Amino acid sequence: MLSVDDAFRKFRSRLELNDKEQANASARQKDVREYIETKFKIDRSFLTGSYARWTKTKPLKDVDIFFVLKASESHYRDKKPTVILDDFHSALVDQYGSDKARRQNRSINVDFGVRADQDDNTDYRVISLDVVPAFAIGDDFEIPDDALGRWIKTNPQTHAAKAVEAQRAFANEWKGLVRMIKYWNNNARHGEKPVKPSFLLEVMCLQCLHAPWGGSFERELQGLFSTLADRIQETWADPAGLGPPISDGMDAQRKARAQQLLRQASRDIDAILNLSRRGQNGDALRAWRAFFGPKFPLS
Ligand SMILES: Nc1ncnc2c1ncn2[C@@H]1O[C@H](COP(=O)(O)OP(=O)(O)OP(=O)(O)O)[C@@H](O)[C@H]1O
Ligand SMILES: [Mg+2]
Repeated sequence: MLSVDDAFRKFRSRLELNDKEQANASARQKDVREYIETKFKIDRSFLTGSYARWTKTKPLKDVDIFFVLKASESHYRDKKPTVILDDFHSALVDQYGSDKARRQNRSINVDFGVRADQDDNTDYRVISLDVVPAFAIGDDFEIPDDALGRWIKTNPQTHAAKAVEAQRAFANEWKGLVRMIKYWNNNARHGEKPVKPSFLLEVMCLQCLHAPWGGSFERELQGLFSTLADRIQETWADPAGLGPPISDGMDAQRKARAQQLLRQASRDIDAILNLSRRGQNGDALRAWRAFFGPKFPLS
């Protein structure tokens, strides 16, 4: 029978991007870029966010693409964020349809009509992209934030460098654990997404996963969920020191609810570890699968 440790290794690699998914993401990026370039003066575009950092979970959706506009489009930068978001939105609606192009706070979501099956598989296809208009300011970028009604600064390279550093300090297990807890967060079993945005989980993991890696997925997750529950109500700044706090995505009520769900998760893990300690391997595997969802293997 599969050991719990081997099950976690398999789980980790199931949540990893593979070649086919990357090929599909590149093809979608190319399609959207070729179209957007007919409507706006684009300097360059690149896949970014958790996708580019290897901290994206499955099923693969909302892959971020930054569209860096040329200086000749800087009139947009002088206007409220809503103007450029509206123009990108209506351009993408013309191409993909009003049911497929959805306006969000900082981006337009383009849905390709792919659905995940009951095992969270998409036949290696990307479900959707988040199209983010951006202006370059030195090494940083400014992107629209509709909720704040102003442009915010960001630096994906700094976020990526922090993730690389954490990964190195944690025996190359850090990104795998981030993908796992983001998978837990997205799991439909909750009927709700406890932590929003899920980038907050990654940001918290920069501080809540303490190096060195102790050698056991179960123990690291036990400590992690209990720390996340303790610290979810804190203010979590942008690790690059540029944008608004990442924790601003939740109000006090949502934070309190997230804390409850994280505490419950932490108690669930304590119970699963008891099964493992008693040698009830099969029960432990089934309990981890119930905890995470269908990508956690039973065999
Ligand atoms: N408040 C913020 N300030 C500065 N940059 C931010 C902020 N929030 C997000 N970002 C940057 O924008 C990127 C895209 O944001 P998003 O919310 O899609 O997170 P993500 O890391 O891609 O997670 P997910 O896997 O949920 O897509 C982040 O990876 C981060 O680099
Ligand atoms: Mg994203």
